[in-house]
Amino acid sequence: MVISRKKQQLMIATMIITLAIMARRLISDARIINITNALNSKKILIVHCKAQDHDVGAGAMSSGEVYSWSFEDVRGVPRGPYWCRLALDDKRLHFLAYLESGYGVGYAVTGYQANETGVYGPDDEHNQWKQIDQFH
Ligand SMILES: *[C@@H]1O[C@H](CO)[C@@H](O)[C@H](O)[C@H]1NC(C)=O
Ligand SMILES: *[C@@H]1O[C@H](CO)[C@@H](O)[C@H](O)[C@H]1NC(C)=O
Repeated sequence: MVISRKKQQLMIATMIITLAIMARRLISDARIINITNALNSKKILIVHCKAQDHDVGAGAMSSGEVYSWSFEDVRGVPRGPYWCRLALDDKRLHFLAYLESGYGVGYAVTGYQANETGVYGPDDEHNQWKQIDQFH
């Protein structure tokens, strides 16, 4: 089989790109974090999350709406911690939404939900929600 020079160059370029993507996956992990407004009322929940070097921005979420952001946690280059401020009427809370684990867990999605009582995160051991903080 005769492969044209152009085709050969294209194959090499494709191989290099594939290897670069594989190498990147070995050292970085994609993270998605979300916070769902699970209020029973039609009240607006203000959510504002940020890390020292990344301000996600403030969001005014209606009931059922999801505030979310993603980033890559590159090993050796810590991203975060990410802290979130939630405001409901005149009540506030402040919680740690993401702390770099240092372990390669690959792609990971973490979901929180907030309602009148406070903010809840996954309790993986018991496969249920656990309260992280309450409004005060
Ligand atoms: C929020 O995160 C959870 C994982 O805990 C996921 O199951 C859910 O699909 C996410 N929701 C959205 C809208 O991204
Ligand atoms: C808020 O959510 C938690 C977890 O789902 C639940 O146990 C609690 O009863 C909820 N509070 C209200 C006021 O709905």
